[in-house]
Amino acid sequence: MFATAARNAGKRLLEIRRSLIQTPQVTRSFSTALNYHIDSPDNNPDISWDFSDANKEKVREILSHYPSNYKRSAVIPLLDLAQQQHGGWLTVSAMNTIAKIVEVAPIRVYEVATFYSMFNRSKVGKYHLLVCGTTPCMIRGSREIEAALLKHLGVKRNEVTKDGLFSVGEMECMGCCVNAPMLAVADYSKGSEGYTYNYYEDLTPERVVEIVEMLKRGETPPVGTQNPERIRSGPAGGNTTLRGEPKPPPCRDLDAC
Ligand code: FES
Repeated sequence: MFATAARNAGKRLLEIRRSLIQTPQVTRSFSTALNYHIDSPDNNPDISWDFSDANKEKVREILSHYPSNYKRSAVIPLLDLAQQQHGGWLTVSAMNTIAKIVEVAPIRVYEVATFYSMFNRSKVGKYHLLVCGTTPCMIRGSREIEAALLKHLGVKRNEVTKDGLFSVGEMECMGCCVNAPMLAVADYSKGSEGYTYNYYEDLTPERVVEIVEMLKRGETPPVGTQNPERIRSGPAGGNTTLRGEPKPPPCRDLDAC
């Protein structure tokens, strides 16, 4: 029975693959996607890319954390540094440079950069706004937060505003569900030296627009909860339990022992 199911699944996969190959539109879109990655005017392997002098020092520091025969372990921090230096996204040349530094085939770097969603392989805004789309944030209105952002900025998801300042993306749970819905702002406006990654929590559609306007004016909105009734993740309006001294008796009568 298992063998039959496996045979059927194999047959179905083959059919799907054949139908994709025979559909010119799909073939075209595959090749366009591939070309976009390696062969657009601002992203192709002929553009030379290197770490800045200040970051070369950081590269040495990062590599010093790993044994010399395991340089490849430094791929993620190096990609992160390259992305900060390059205004929030990674070109194929940047990935190739990292492959040379850690002495691996470029594909080993591409496969890491394409796996993790925090690495962007196309341009983003100086402020990359990441709306959490996972269930707790969704239940608490993240779709409305995203809609308010897209409408206010006049872009679609993953598009960059004409002034290059903002782009809106989506992330999965960022570990802040208790203050849902939330937004993370990756701020590439000051290069790798001034890079910050801030959380804005307990958002409303109106508040998220105010935050964007503050960023536009070069201000730094207060991070964390945006609900004035809450302190960090505490209950809105203050504590409702455990407000006095705990009352005796202890759980056991120790004198009885
Ligand atoms: S679901 Fe949004 S932070 Fe966890």
